[in-house]
Amino acid sequence: MKRIHLEIALGTIFIILSSVVLIVMAAEEPGRLARFEVEQRAEQIEFGAAVFEINCTSCHGSHAQGIPGKAPCLRCPELFASRLAEVGWPGSLEDYIVSVVSTGRQVSTRPALYQGEGKGPPVMPTWSERFGGPLRDDQIRAVAAFIVNFQGWAENPEVVPTPLVAVDINDPVSLGRVAFVQYGCIGCHAIDGLSQATTGPALDGVATRAETRTGYESAEDYIRTSILNPGEFVVEGFGDGIMPTNFSELISEADLENLVLFLLSLTEP
Ligand code: HEC
Ligand code: HEC
Repeated sequence: MKRIHLEIALGTIFIILSSVVLIVMAAEEPGRLARFEVEQRAEQIEFGAAVFEINCTSCHGSHAQGIPGKAPCLRCPELFASRLAEVGWPGSLEDYIVSVVSTGRQVSTRPALYQGEGKGPPVMPTWSERFGGPLRDDQIRAVAAFIVNFQGWAENPEVVPTPLVAVDINDPVSLGRVAFVQYGCIGCHAIDGLSQATTGPALDGVATRAETRTGYESAEDYIRTSILNPGEFVVEGFGDGIMPTNFSELISEADLENLVLFLLSLTEP
């Protein structure tokens, strides 16, 4: 055999062999990936348990079972079955947890049941370092994974989860409603179908009311100012200094925009 023929033959064998190896590897890939993901997830949950142990047990209990008067159970069926619908959260439970933990809670949405440590606002401190708290994003995601992992334990097959509120992510009003929940406004302000809180004025019809406030360019201007600088105009019958004054530091520009548009949509019926 001429040298050139030998090389062609060897080359062909090499190509066939490497194809076989590639096909075998590709066939095994999904299994390997799945195993890898499970291991990663297990590691993340373990890490989350440590984050929880250090930061969260003082209020939520040593086993996330909750402490009456202080903070809710984070392993009980209600969290998995009905809590998202109750607060109108459109996304996944894990995202809800990441969001609540990141921003904390100025005031309790269930003040009769849970008041944090009872020292006043915030009832749950802000955890994300993005908002001045102590935890990194990966630590918050890990603690969320740790909590979500209780779902299997808590799940009661007889409970039919309430459908989530549909949110149109292209609709600022819809997103503003989410921000209203996310930033804890529901803890103080009643809005029909969302909250019955009485610490602050009910906001149904606030857009109509806003038009009558003097000294403002527009209803929009009044509502924006009410959020960023609550002391500038104090609604009759309510105390000054109750609404938190640091929303300008907490709320992103986009969320604020959506919040204002949501409140502007609340005209008198
Ligand atoms: C100072 C007390 C306190 C600490 C510490 C605390 N929380 Fe909370 N947490 C609360 C209170 C109070 C609520 C709000 C209850 C409400 O709005 O009804 C809450 C709510 C939550 C919720 C929402 C539960 C629901 O039913 O909507 C999650 C999730 C949560 N906390 C996770 C954590 C995690 C994770 C940590 C630790 C990184 C933590 N919390 C530390 C007091 C605390
Ligand atoms: C701790 C309770 C509390 C929280 C949390 C809170 N507010 Fe308020 N809010 C009040 C009180 C009390 C008033 C009335 C006194 C005043 O005008 O400052 C008020 C007034 C307002 C007004 C003026 C209403 C009117 O009729 O003129 C708007 C608008 C408003 N809040 C929006 C919000 C939004 C949006 C959030 C969330 C980002 C929020 N508030 C969070 C307590 C709260």
